[in-house]
Amino acid sequence: MFLRNCWYVVAWDHEIPADGLFNRTVLGEPLLLFRRADGRIVALEDRCCHRLAPLSKGRKEGDCVRCGYHGLKFNAEGACVEVPGLESVPPKARVRSYPVALRHKWVFVWMGDPARADTALLPDNFSCDHPDWRNIPGYLHYDTPQLLICDNLLDFSHLSYVHEKTLGNSTAIAQVRPEIEKVPRGLRVSRKVRNVPPPAYWARARDFGGGHVDRWFIYDFLLPGTLLMHSGGRPTGDAEGDMRRAVELHSCQTLTPETETSTHYFFQQSHRAALGGEWLTQMIHDGLLVAFEEDRAMITAQARNIERGPEAPMLPLAMDAALVQFRRLLAQAVEAEQA
Ligand code: FES
Ligand SMILES: [Fe+2]
Repeated sequence: MFLRNCWYVVAWDHEIPADGLFNRTVLGEPLLLFRRADGRIVALEDRCCHRLAPLSKGRKEGDCVRCGYHGLKFNAEGACVEVPGLESVPPKARVRSYPVALRHKWVFVWMGDPARADTALLPDNFSCDHPDWRNIPGYLHYDTPQLLICDNLLDFSHLSYVHEKTLGNSTAIAQVRPEIEKVPRGLRVSRKVRNVPPPAYWARARDFGGGHVDRWFIYDFLLPGTLLMHSGGRPTGDAEGDMRRAVELHSCQTLTPETETSTHYFFQQSHRAALGGEWLTQMIHDGLLVAFEEDRAMITAQARNIERGPEAPMLPLAMDAALVQFRRLLAQAVEAEQA
């Protein structure tokens, strides 16, 4: 059961070609995306109303798309405007169209009632596209349900173990209890870890002289599955609020169910533009990809185990607090929507 009346990221802006057709499945529904002549993005059901062929196997004709099977032509609103060999188009001939929003390079689709699409509900993914911040956009495909990845992002104690050699570098991260607060449509999770060695890649961006750092991870995790995080660290001993020698990062990550059992993962980790040039942006991105492969390997293996024994109980522990709360929030939102 998916939450429908919300925005889901379907693509990075650069993935949708200026001329051509792009398809991606969201919540089990095949979507076709393309651009009008003025650049605005259109999202239609990728399933011709005639014999259900994917429209993405057809071709774009101006602001319209023509099915590649028997040639029905649809406009950007999804209405069929031409049936080869027929004088008039049956009024029922149309495919569904989805509201689209573009914000800071994320392309969102509204999967619920179009009348309820509300851009006030878009998350603030500012660092995806901001002159003070630098990043490289990332995408990963997961063969697991979306919620298992949400669980992972809601409990950073795994940094100490899954990411021992990459993002973690200290068992102290797992020992600290985060603060969890409610925010509109989600949770705020704040974890502060004092006096730990910096992760290896920081040492290449900043000279910590072999010393320790105080680290922070402060993020909002919002429905339907978006993480917006300020993180960073400063040399242990520097006062809280002193940013002169700090490493400051901002990350936007979002999880869009492709189906019940597979997920799209869009992410970027930004650093302050003043921290370094292109080499640093590339290094952070490459490091993140290594770490995210560590997550994917673990979560995929976990998902296969769950499939093998769906009856096996899990053991609830204190470290699960945020993910339990988020799952409850999502379940309540889905329930409210169906009422
Ligand atoms: S299936 Fe599209 S025109 Fe026949
Ligand atoms: Fe992770």
